[in-house]
Amino acid sequence: MSKTKIDLIDRDKIPVHIAIIMDGNGRWARKQGFARIKGHNTGVETIRNIVTFSNEIGLKYLTLYAFSIENWGRPKREIKLLMKLLDKYLADELSLFLENNIRFNVIGLIEGLPLEIQKKIKYNMESTKNNTGLTLTLALNYSGRSEITTAVKNIVKDASSGKISSIDITEDFISSYLFTNDLPDPDLLIRTSGEMRVSNFLLWQISYSEIWITPVLWPDFSQNHLAEAVVDYQKRERRFGKV
Ligand code: FPP
Repeated sequence: MSKTKIDLIDRDKIPVHIAIIMDGNGRWARKQGFARIKGHNTGVETIRNIVTFSNEIGLKYLTLYAFSIENWGRPKREIKLLMKLLDKYLADELSLFLENNIRFNVIGLIEGLPLEIQKKIKYNMESTKNNTGLTLTLALNYSGRSEITTAVKNIVKDASSGKISSIDITEDFISSYLFTNDLPDPDLLIRTSGEMRVSNFLLWQISYSEIWITPVLWPDFSQNHLAEAVVDYQKRERRFGKV
């Protein structure tokens, strides 16, 4: 039998952090003649599959763009269904996290989400905080610009109260004020559905990330597709601006 991409992964050179812009749920549903929500439903199954696989190959950090601040501009009905799906996801997945040593984490303006969802996020984060396998981070009510704006506000607040002085402002210092302060920068950024955009995702953190864009729509994105991206990443030479 011919080798799959999964067989070709060099297990000693797994990237530390992969971030994914999951896109194409709506188009996937339309192509099959379904309502958009069916695409999101199937997208949740893809998340489960990709989280399990990431943990199995020893990835330390996986960050998924699940709901952007801009997504509030979608039709009310779609937002309601997405929130319902998110609520169910948070309730259903805890056992997977606990059984597989996965730490669950969220970045974004959590206080802008429905209360019941906020509660479940806090509960899941607290229940999995000592897990040492994969750290799964969902970006929820997130945008890169709002994250940077929040960081600037907090820096100004700490400066005016005398907690910090201007001498403290370095790149690492700014990183420490971002939602991602306990995550390394992504090594690899993946976007599905072929769009060539960053869409306000991790703007500060992806400065030196390698990028992989695939035409595959998120509900069709398989473990083998992720393996393909990892194998391609492993062939690249990262120079960080040097020669
Ligand atoms: C984009 O598809 C996808 C999103 C809105 C983010 C990903 C959401 C999910 C996988 C489902 C919900 C997630 C959780 C954690 C419950 P799109 O609707 O923009 O697709 P299109 O561009 O083809 O319309």
